[in-house]
Amino acid sequence: MLSPTIQKALNEQIHAEFFSSYLYLAVAAWFNDQHLDGFAAWFEAQAKEELEHGIKLFHHIMDRGGTVVLEAVDKPKAGWENPSEAVKAVLEHERYITGRINALADLATKENDHATAVFLHWYISEQVEEEATADRLFNQTAMVEGSPNGLLMLDRELAGRGGSEGGEA
Ligand code: FEO
Repeated sequence: MLSPTIQKALNEQIHAEFFSSYLYLAVAAWFNDQHLDGFAAWFEAQAKEELEHGIKLFHHIMDRGGTVVLEAVDKPKAGWENPSEAVKAVLEHERYITGRINALADLATKENDHATAVFLHWYISEQVEEEATADRLFNQTAMVEGSPNGLLMLDRELAGRGGSEGGEA
């Protein structure tokens, strides 16, 4: 059984993961408006990954005999000044998610919930990868800011790997 404290925290994390998905869809839509289809496809793939992160938590709660409580997903921001600002929003959000996952792992340990602590190991490793991927993309985008040629090259590169690496941030 899940303790009420852990159950509440896991439900809140489902909400956070679904909000991540919504935010990344908003970023994908914004890149689509900028005619940067590679970036748009890449962030759409990211958004799908975030839904999966939420669904994994959903199953963990049910597998442990807990109750899933779904909250309304918050409205994400819709516009950014330039491509690097949009990617930076994602990087900052990933850092926020890492903080949440670490706090959740601390809570699982404090509550002696070993199954949840082990379950969260996947998320802890995933966050290392996701932050690194978002950080790399942010730096590359900032590097080519103001250079249409550079931006288009990066966009093409992202279009090419949208299906594979697209889910890692
Ligand atoms: Fe589910 Fe990108 O963190």
